[in-house]
Amino acid sequence: SLPIRCQIVEVGPRDGLQNISPFIPTATKIELVKRLAGTGLRKIEATSFVSPKWVPQLADGTELLEGLRSESLDVQFPVLAPNLKGLERASKAGAKEVVVFASSTEVFSKANQACTVEEALKEAEAVTKEALRLGIKVRGVASCVFEDPFSGPTPSEAVLAVVQRFLDMGCYEVGLGDTLGTGTPRDTQRLLDVLLEHVPANKIAGHFHDTYGQGIANVIQAYNMGIRTFDTSVAGLGGCPYAPGAKGNVATEDVVYTLEKMGIDTGVDLDKLIRVGQWISNELGRPYISRVGGAISSK
Ligand code: HMG
Ligand code: MG
Repeated sequence: SLPIRCQIVEVGPRDGLQNISPFIPTATKIELVKRLAGTGLRKIEATSFVSPKWVPQLADGTELLEGLRSESLDVQFPVLAPNLKGLERASKAGAKEVVVFASSTEVFSKANQACTVEEALKEAEAVTKEALRLGIKVRGVASCVFEDPFSGPTPSEAVLAVVQRFLDMGCYEVGLGDTLGTGTPRDTQRLLDVLLEHVPANKIAGHFHDTYGQGIANVIQAYNMGIRTFDTSVAGLGGCPYAPGAKGNVATEDVVYTLEKMGIDTGVDLDKLIRVGQWISNELGRPYISRVGGAISSK
C-alpha cells in the first residue's frame, strides 16, 4: 500500500513571530527559516504583507523574501496578503503563494481586519483573482472556527459558508483556524461532520492553536476524519495580536512526534527540529515550551 503522509505547514515565522515585540532583526528571521528548511519542512509560512501599523513585527516581509531568494531553498513560502495592496507587495517580493484570511465571525473580523466578514471575503476574492492571473497560488484560512474571543461560539454553518466561498473563488485549500485554541476533539468532530458533507477532506487543513492544550488531540481527531495537512509552529510560538489570550499554534515538534509514532511520514527530522526550537526560544528569550522537545532534549 502507499505510504501514509501528512503535510506539515510550518507557520512559526509568521503566526509565531507576529505577536512578539520588540522587533526581531530580519537576519534572525531568515536564519530561522533556513534552519527550519534544514529539518525537512517543505512549506514554511514566512511572513505577512499586512498593514505594518497593524503588525509592525512583520514589516520587513520584502527584505525577508529577498534574503530567502538568495538562499535558493527547495521550500514553498506562502505569505499572508489580506488585500490588493498586500498582494502587490508580495508579488513584487517574488511570492509564489499567498494566504487570504477571513473570520467566521463578525466581531473578530472587525478586530482583526477592520471590516465585516463579507467585506473581507470580497477583498479576498479580488486578491485571489489577481493572484491566479499572476500565476500565484492562493490558500484561504477561516478564523474563529469554534469561538470568537468577543462573541462566543461559532455555528458550523458560518464556517462552512466561509470555506465554500474560499474554494469557489479559487483557493486550493482552506485552513480551519481555532484562533483561540479552545476547541476540543468533540468540536473538531462536530465541525468536520458538517464540512465533509460538502467539501472533500483534501481541501481542508487544520490550524489549531494550543492555548488549552488541545492541539494534538484536535490534529488526531481531524486526521482520523481524513485531514492530512496541518499548520504548526516550531516551539509552539504564536498567537494573534487581535485575539486576547490566544497562545501559539500546536508545536511542530509535538505533531511530528505523534504522527511519526503513528507510522505517518512527515518528512521532518525531529532531532534537528528540536534544536531549531531550542535555538529560537533562546534567541527570543522565552522558555522552550514544546512538550516533546523539552522531554527529548533533557534525556
Ligand atoms: P485599515 O486600517 O482599515 O486599512 O486596516 P486601510 O485600507 O484604511 O489602510 C490604512 C493604512 O494601512 C494605509 O496607509 C494603507 O496604505 C496601509 P496610510 O495611508 O495610513 O499610510 N495598508 C497596508 N500597508 C502595507 N500592506 C498592506 C496594507 N493594507 C493597508 N497590505 C487591514 C485593514 C486589513 C489592512 C488591517 O486590518 C490589517 O493589516 N489586518 C491584518 C491583521 C493581522 O495581520 N492579523 C494577524 C494575522 S491573521 C491570524 O493570525 C489568524 C490566522 O493565523 C488563523 C487563525 O489562527 O485563526 C491566519
Ligand atoms: Mg493562527
